[in-house]
Amino acid sequence: MANNLLKGKRGIIFGALNDQSIAWKVAERAHEEGATFVLTNAPIAMRMGKINKLAEATGSKVIPADATIVEDLENLVSQAVEILGGKIDFILHSIGMSVNVRKGKHYTDENYAWTMKGLDVSALSFHKVMQTTKKLDAMNEWGSIVALTYIAAQRVFPDYNDMADNKSYLESIARSFGYHYGISDKVRVNTISQSPTMTTAGSGIKGFNEFINYSGKMSPLGNASAVACADYCVAMFSDLTRYVTMQNLFHDGGFSNTGVTQEVINKFSD
Ligand SMILES: NC(=O)c1ccc[n+]([C@@H]2O[C@H](COP(=O)([O-])OP(=O)(O)OC[C@H]3O[C@@H](n4cnc5c(N)ncnc54)[C@H](O)[C@@H]3O)[C@@H](O)[C@H]2O)c1
Repeated sequence: MANNLLKGKRGIIFGALNDQSIAWKVAERAHEEGATFVLTNAPIAMRMGKINKLAEATGSKVIPADATIVEDLENLVSQAVEILGGKIDFILHSIGMSVNVRKGKHYTDENYAWTMKGLDVSALSFHKVMQTTKKLDAMNEWGSIVALTYIAAQRVFPDYNDMADNKSYLESIARSFGYHYGISDKVRVNTISQSPTMTTAGSGIKGFNEFINYSGKMSPLGNASAVACADYCVAMFSDLTRYVTMQNLFHDGGFSNTGVTQEVINKFSD
C-alpha cells in the first residue's frame, strides 16, 4: 500500500542486519513510499549481514559507520548529504546491544565495562548521531528523527537486564535533544516503543519465545509486527505528523495501558 508519503524525502537508516531487522522493514516501506536513503551499520555487522541485498532492492548506497564513533558519523552524514543531493529529512536509529545480556551476566552482577559499552551503543549513540547532524547542519526543517525503544524503560522486565537502563537513557535523550533541535532547526525527535519482535537483538533476551506469547495475550490488538512498526515509522517521517516531538510513542497493540486481559486471567482458573 504505497501513498507516496515520503516522496522526495532523504533519509539515513541505521540497523538493518538481516530481513528480520525492524530497520530492514522500515527501509522497504520507506522505499515503497518514495524516499531515497542511505543504509548504514557497524562495519562488523556488515560482514555478517545481508545489507547489500537490501541496498540493491531499494536502490540505496551503504556507508559503514560504528554509531559510537563520532568520526564515522561525520563521514556518514556528510557522504549521505552528498549522495542524496541535499539535506536529510529523516533518520531511523534502530540500534541496540548489551554485552551483559549477550554474556548472560545477571543485572545484580554487572560487568561495568560491558555496561558502559552497551550504554554507548544503545543510547549515547543516539546523542552522537544528532550532535553530528546538528553540527554539520545536515537536517532539513521539519525533519524527523526516530529511535526504537522498549517499555522496559518504564516497567521492570527482569531478563531485559541493563537494556532497560539503556532505553531509559535513550528516551531521555529524545526529549532533551528534541527540545533543543526543535527550537534551533524545527527538527522533531521521538522514540517508538515497539512490541517484542522476533529479531536477532530480540531473541538474545532469555525466555524470549514465552515472553512474546505473554505479551501478545496481554495486548488487546496482539503484538505489533516489524512491518507494522515500519508503517508507524513512515507515518512519523511523513509531513502528517509535523507537530509530534519529544514523545515516547507506544506501538504495542495496547500492552502499555492494559493491567490484565481475560485471556491471561483464564490461565489462572482452577
Ligand atoms: N526486537 C524487539 O523485540 C524489539 C522491541 C522493541 C525495541 N526494539 C529495538 O529495535 C531496535 C532494532 O533492533 P532489532 O530488533 O531490529 O534487532 P537487530 O539485531 O536486527 O538490530 C540491531 C542493530 O544494531 C546494530 N548495531 C549494533 N552495534 C552497533 C554499532 N556500534 N553501530 C551501529 N550499529 C550497531 C546491529 O548491527 C543491528 O543491525 C533496537 O534498538 C532494539 O532495542 C526491539
